[in-house]
Amino acid sequence: MTVAIDSTKAEAGEGRRKIENFDDILPYIGEAGRYQWFLFFILLPFTFVYAFLYFTQFFLTLTPNQYWCTVPELDLWNLTDYEKIAISVPLANEEELKMEGATALSRCQVYAVNYTEILASGRREADPNWPTKPCENGWSFNWTTVPYASIAAELGWVCDKTFLSSAAQSAFFVGSIIGGFIFGYIADHYGRLPALVACNSVGFFASVGTAFCTSFWTFTLSRLIVGTAFDNCFNILFIVVIEYVGPKYRTLMANMSFGIYFAFAASILPWIAYWIANWRILSVVTAVPLIIAFIAPWIVPESARWYIACGKMDKAIAMLKKFERVNKKKVPQEIYDEFQISCNLALANDKSADKYTVLDLFKKPRLARITIMLIVYWLLIILVFDGHVWNMKLLDPDVFTSFSLAALTELPAAVLLAIFLDRWGRRWMGFMSMLGCGLFSFLALATPQGGSRVAMAILARLGVNIAANIGFQYAAEMLPTVVRAQGVNLIHIIGYFAHIIGPYVVYLADVSPALPLIVLGLLSLFVAGLTLCLPETLDQELPQSLQEGNDFGKEQSFWWIPCISSTPEKKKIYRKKIGATNAGFNPGSLQRIDSTKL
Ligand SMILES: *[C@@H]1O[C@H](CO)[C@@H](O)[C@H](O)[C@H]1NC(C)=O
Ligand SMILES: *[C@@H]1O[C@H](CO)[C@@H](O)[C@H](O)[C@H]1NC(C)=O
Ligand SMILES: *[C@@H]1O[C@H](CO)[C@@H](O)[C@H](O)[C@H]1NC(C)=O
Repeated sequence: MTVAIDSTKAEAGEGRRKIENFDDILPYIGEAGRYQWFLFFILLPFTFVYAFLYFTQFFLTLTPNQYWCTVPELDLWNLTDYEKIAISVPLANEEELKMEGATALSRCQVYAVNYTEILASGRREADPNWPTKPCENGWSFNWTTVPYASIAAELGWVCDKTFLSSAAQSAFFVGSIIGGFIFGYIADHYGRLPALVACNSVGFFASVGTAFCTSFWTFTLSRLIVGTAFDNCFNILFIVVIEYVGPKYRTLMANMSFGIYFAFAASILPWIAYWIANWRILSVVTAVPLIIAFIAPWIVPESARWYIACGKMDKAIAMLKKFERVNKKKVPQEIYDEFQISCNLALANDKSADKYTVLDLFKKPRLARITIMLIVYWLLIILVFDGHVWNMKLLDPDVFTSFSLAALTELPAAVLLAIFLDRWGRRWMGFMSMLGCGLFSFLALATPQGGSRVAMAILARLGVNIAANIGFQYAAEMLPTVVRAQGVNLIHIIGYFAHIIGPYVVYLADVSPALPLIVLGLLSLFVAGLTLCLPETLDQELPQSLQEGNDFGKEQSFWWIPCISSTPEKKKIYRKKIGATNAGFNPGSLQRIDSTKL
């Protein structure tokens, strides 16, 4: 993070830099002025939207670990839960003990006897030799750790039906793939702002609609529709804000704000769920931030870059003039004129770039290898991240606290990234964070159940958080300019498939309780190794053509570590050249750079 102060130089007039692209005009209208700070705060409610959409379903379908078959006959007698369990619940059989989060007592079987007769005879203890049968009258839950009945508890998605919760979660992410196409199309053809509003409105109505669901199918359908809003609800605005903020302030204003807001939103969500203690009301309350969609047209600026990209130059200039006014700057008309001419030129050039498609990434062998490695890297990181999120409920009965603490790791992740990413480079930092993630996953297995194990899992989560933040920027920096946007989009979309299978990682526990963490640990170590096979992008020029993309990083030595073997001068020259600390945001391109965060 380099917060430079030389932005005033641009106004000196004489010997000024030519206005070639959007980033060149930013210093004139203010790179981090009042309007940008306003946008910085506008990101807050949208980050809440993002975090709530991502994680609310976890709490809508959360069930307590302890449950047992309900026996209606027992209600006629004045019995405590303990007495009911003592008379009706057998010990878990071997098959059940292997299930995720198993308890010593059976959760799915009940003694098949006539309780009225037995209780009448004065007996209060079960005989283990009695025959058993599966539950027939639903389940009773121990509400100590999870103080409310989620839809999963209401509809009995337990025992052989636990997969229904995961299926509904997958439906959500299937929805986000569909939404990605729909709102992506709207964003490209009708503007970023209409897409943002449409997307958040759909999310709002579907979230409220979720509260009225009474069956698996209605619930899954409404979650699928909520899912269509996921990630565009925030991403579109995030990209617009990044575009308007000067490159030097991007890490601070965009990435840091995301890290801080997201950590805050995701860590209070469990407590909102806890205090509301009603899944229907929770679904409505978490939809509240989405209301921002209805006032967005008045507070969110349309992307000037989008105006330029579709040739609406006058509207783009009007937008910039608004920034000029709010930021209290004075920009001579000639600057705008020059900008307009450059943009028209660039637009013509961009048309020639249009002939490239995502398939071009696979036409050159080395570039194809890099692309595939990037896809695998991103897929596995999402899988490990989601795996750790869902796995938390197996590790700790008090999921609210552990979920909240795990979400807070986004904060140290943001700080560590700000300090080290531009020193150690993407490659070594990605390697170390995933190595850490893997090691802590195994350490979690080695420590006894309880607080210390949860702490290890949270440290593992910190590792994957850092790697996820690096991952997306890495891809944007490594793919050649002509196919960068398409390539990044491809990786993004394929990443959703990892979201879809993520919730099932916990079912590995049905095979063996240790398996989820073993698998997450091994995957992390694999990703760590994979990172070392990718070229470093720090202090490198962004590749432009396909050939440059293919040759990218060929000359790098395996052991090259930027902070040791790169001189400050080299870095400075490079930064000046691209005008950014965050090269991933591709200064100067008129094309939409899709960017996402976990
Ligand atoms: C039920 O049992 C509890 C204690 O076991 C007792 O205090 C209570 O009076 C009983 N109620 C009835 C209606 O028998
Ligand atoms: C249990 O036994 C009682 C008395 O013998 C009888 O009235 C009742 O129908 C029996 N219940 C069941 C479910 O068989
Ligand atoms: C419910 O869980 C709490 C805490 O885990 C435990 O103390 C209590 O005995 C449980 N109640 C029943 C009925 O098993």
